[in-house]
Amino acid sequence: MTDEKILIVDDEDMIRTLCAQILSDRGYEVHTASNGITALEELRKSPVDLIVTDIKMPGMDGLDLLERVRAEGHDSVVIFITGYGTIDTAVESLMRGVDGFVLKPFTEKQLITSVERAIKRSRMEKENIRLKALIPLFEISKLLVPELDLGAIFTMITNIVVQEFSADRVSLMLLNETTGILEIRASHGFSSPDVPLAKKPGEGISEFVFLHRTPVLISPENIQDTEITARLNKNDPARSSMSVPLSGKNSVFGVLNITRISGRAFTTSDLQVASILATQVAAALENATLFRHLQDHYVRTVQALVAAVEAKDPYTCLHSINVATYAVEIGRDIGLNKSQLEEIRIAAMLHDIGKIGVSDVIISKPERLSYEEFNVMKDHSEHGIRILDPIGFPPEILQAIHQHHERYDGKGYPYGLAGEEISLGARILNIADAIDAMISRRPYHETISNQEVLQELEREAGKQFDPRIAESARRLIQQGQLKPVSYCMPAGAKEDAGKK
Ligand SMILES: [Fe+2]
Repeated sequence: MTDEKILIVDDEDMIRTLCAQILSDRGYEVHTASNGITALEELRKSPVDLIVTDIKMPGMDGLDLLERVRAEGHDSVVIFITGYGTIDTAVESLMRGVDGFVLKPFTEKQLITSVERAIKRSRMEKENIRLKALIPLFEISKLLVPELDLGAIFTMITNIVVQEFSADRVSLMLLNETTGILEIRASHGFSSPDVPLAKKPGEGISEFVFLHRTPVLISPENIQDTEITARLNKNDPARSSMSVPLSGKNSVFGVLNITRISGRAFTTSDLQVASILATQVAAALENATLFRHLQDHYVRTVQALVAAVEAKDPYTCLHSINVATYAVEIGRDIGLNKSQLEEIRIAAMLHDIGKIGVSDVIISKPERLSYEEFNVMKDHSEHGIRILDPIGFPPEILQAIHQHHERYDGKGYPYGLAGEEISLGARILNIADAIDAMISRRPYHETISNQEVLQELEREAGKQFDPRIAESARRLIQQGQLKPVSYCMPAGAKEDAGKK
């Protein structure tokens, strides 16, 4: 038994039965029709791989049937059986896209040879379709995997679909879970007044596809389903369109609509490719959404940790925000990329998180800390790592926090690392931390002038600070780009000298 289905169309019972018998014996699933109209009805119910049809039939002849088959978007291979094998008929048949002939009278062997050749062609075409489908899938994966921004992903998907299907219009619709409405999140080829930004449940073809979780192919010749007909926009000049559901693991969350205004109508093969593509698009969107949720969760975790350390030590109120602002500005100035800047921002927000692990007595002590107390306070770098490591923060963030009190000259803590032994993030944090300590108004000293900050940065370049980063910070301060975002001093706050 083979996987292929064959439809025999002939008005002569004997020929139809004979062909069916021969091909059934070869293991094919064979269906029969006595005329073109019945053949089209059969095809609409169940597509076939090969149509073997007589040319000369009453009503609709083989050539007309071929034309209708193509117009309705069926991509079955077609071969003609005819006793009228003149040159004219052959030429016209080939021009209309027939794939082969069997001339009456034919032997069993001739029929089988022609059918097997056609089936081989059908298999090759299907294989081509599968290969063709892999190209956009590969492109999508290659482009989408590193992209985390949903807007950029929408644009990429639209562009790839336009290119792959020679589409005139594309729309990517996603369910708004709050309103229950399908909304267009990306589109191509609509003039502004035409863009249906949202559809209410029950409207349009895309909603049909969404509700029934089934792809739909529409061309003017093959609309038989009355429910689909009722949903068509009669004024739409579309030649042909496909709508495929975007399905996640457990549910449908959107629809991809692809339309041609002119040219060849989409076929069932196109619909097959679009469905495969939709699977990849859905996976990419699900991954991006999942990543965004994880990121939101991550950001909320960071915010909760920052709030925890600020609650413990009121003097650090907004200190972490200012340090993050300076660190990101400096990082940008020395050429860090987007993800490095995000790492430095998070590291800055959490650089003193380890203070949670230091005794309240020391944290809240209003007077200058003793030598022993200061040594306990210095443990906050280590405490920070013990808190953050199990959460799964990237090593760059953990290193920056762990080493933010190391000095360029090797006289810092906890390990006395020097120069580039200290991570770049930590060297940036160290300067950002020092700048905020200087320019934010502290209980124990008034704000010092920019000039004094510049002098301090110059004096400590190569000692406490990495000279290249200190130079960047000096330049930014001179340009007025390093300013505290905000500052708050809780009521009753007292001196915290020695706590940094
Ligand atoms: Fe610190």
